[in-house]
Amino acid sequence: MCGIVGYIGTHAAAPVILEGLAKLEYRGYDSAGMAVFDGERIQITKSAGRLKVLEELTHDGATMPGVVGIGHTRWATHGAPSNENAHPHYNMNETIAVVHNGIIENYLPLKEKLISRGYQFTSETDTEVLAHLIDYYYKGNPLEAITKVMHRVQGSYALGIIFAEHPDEIFAVRKDSPLIVGQNENGCFIASDVPAILKYTRKVYFIENQEVVRLRADHMHFYTVDEEEITKEPVTIEWDSDAAEKGGYEHFMLKEMYEQPKTVTDTLMPRLKDGDIVIEELGMSDEEIQSIRKIYIVACGSAYHTGVTAKYVIEGIARIPVEVDVASEFRYRDPILEDGTMVIVISQSGETADTLAALRESQKRGHKVLGIVNVVGSSIAREADNVMYTWAGPEIAVATTKAYSAQLIALYLLAMKFAKVRGKLEEEAFQHMLEDLKRLPEQIEMLLSNKKKIQKFANRYVAAKDVFFVGRGIDYAISMEGSLKLKEISYIHSEAYAAGELKHGTISLIEEGTLVAAVATQDKLFQKTLSNMVEVKARGAFVLAVTNEGNTDIEKAADYVIYIPSTNPYFANSLAIIPLQLFGYYVAVGKGCDVDKPRNLAKSVTVE
Ligand code: M6R
Repeated sequence: MCGIVGYIGTHAAAPVILEGLAKLEYRGYDSAGMAVFDGERIQITKSAGRLKVLEELTHDGATMPGVVGIGHTRWATHGAPSNENAHPHYNMNETIAVVHNGIIENYLPLKEKLISRGYQFTSETDTEVLAHLIDYYYKGNPLEAITKVMHRVQGSYALGIIFAEHPDEIFAVRKDSPLIVGQNENGCFIASDVPAILKYTRKVYFIENQEVVRLRADHMHFYTVDEEEITKEPVTIEWDSDAAEKGGYEHFMLKEMYEQPKTVTDTLMPRLKDGDIVIEELGMSDEEIQSIRKIYIVACGSAYHTGVTAKYVIEGIARIPVEVDVASEFRYRDPILEDGTMVIVISQSGETADTLAALRESQKRGHKVLGIVNVVGSSIAREADNVMYTWAGPEIAVATTKAYSAQLIALYLLAMKFAKVRGKLEEEAFQHMLEDLKRLPEQIEMLLSNKKKIQKFANRYVAAKDVFFVGRGIDYAISMEGSLKLKEISYIHSEAYAAGELKHGTISLIEEGTLVAAVATQDKLFQKTLSNMVEVKARGAFVLAVTNEGNTDIEKAADYVIYIPSTNPYFANSLAIIPLQLFGYYVAVGKGCDVDKPRNLAKSVTVE
């Protein structure tokens, strides 16, 4: 995720900012920049690439004198990683500079309005809209201009802002994107994350949604979005710097699991407009959507599992045949790609060698490829004909969680869009599904809050040798991901089976006490899966069931039940996967495994 650091005080700002940004490097970024008021004007230096480039360009900050400044490391969202898109961004006469973390959902209409009023843009970012919008509302009072902007924009943001006409102040605001401020005897600091300023102070103020802070060298004032001054209490940070990088969580994987409600919101909300789904980046007219005869989904690992889920969803609601393939198979098996076949590749990193090869193979055969990608500017994002980004931010743990959840959302949106355009989904059903989608973030949050219960259960299985995950339909796809989560980080052998397949061989592996995790969220398949549970239980299995609230019948066949809240059956994966992620995580923690960096695995598999 992007990083923000700002400083105002008695020392040179640039070295403090560079040092703070270096502490946020672990979060991943693709460009860096700083704005410092040099006594006359706001000077900006920024560049694509590592922080080292910025350090070299500024001679470790020496070329940017001044005691007020803001800095940023960017993880590209709107627009590729480039010098122009790097932050900070100016207004047109370079008297305002802005750094931004988050996504402005309504940036396009705002940009159009600003252009019609004569504003010129030099980047593709949503952030530049903010710089011009602040300029538009600025009549000499920064607080007034900023709060007006907060009323106009939708989405998530943490902002650091400086004004040449107010060189003794920094302004910072936030909504749904973290921001803290702190103070010591040498000045005041803003940061998107604690590690950036831990060296200077352990007393920090957490800025809440829709709050504004005005920092001077020796004091800070806090305001509501309605410009009313408020008081806040500081929090003393006890974490060491390693814990601080993880936001206080024990591992990045746990932190990233907890980021899933936000990831889902960020991937979903910018694509919902006036009761409809708008996927501008799809680049397909309604006629083109209507003429799709088949969809091929190609990916690896967890991304492949989201493809398996999508097959059920797309076929179920849009009635388009879908074939899902692992990229390493697809690329070598001379796939039959007939006219009217749409190819979708899915990848968090956008660098997976086999997925990239599958994309190229499809293009060689004359097929356009849609990439569902998390890393902006990655190889797949650059080479795909169209890119639908998942706004999960950087994922550091090797085991994917939040990017997986974001991919599911992107695929649900596609399925619903296709279904609606092809006349397969009535407006009323479509609206109900939209409501269910919007409820997912809070439902995920609720499931995450059960972590203690799952941890206790997981502790009983740290010595397990084999675990089986079973389910039917979408529940089978969920089982595949639950099984992968467990095995890749805990090194416990686990397998996922379509529950109906058990009798065809696997059931002979069940012994007294073998753990079988049965996923049963699909009402129409519930009784079938229940029978399979009874069968394995009769052979000594310990049965963990994941099912919908109200399905208490399951308690007859299961030894331990986790209930998920009610949602549309097509979205059950987004909820049922949460306890399974937590289960895999806590088993691995209980075994003392290196959860974030499991042996033999890499985050980005750039070789075949
Ligand atoms: O970056 P990608 O999404 O293309 O990566 C695909 C797989 O390598 C990835 O999902 C892998 O299976 C993860 N370790 C799963 O947690």
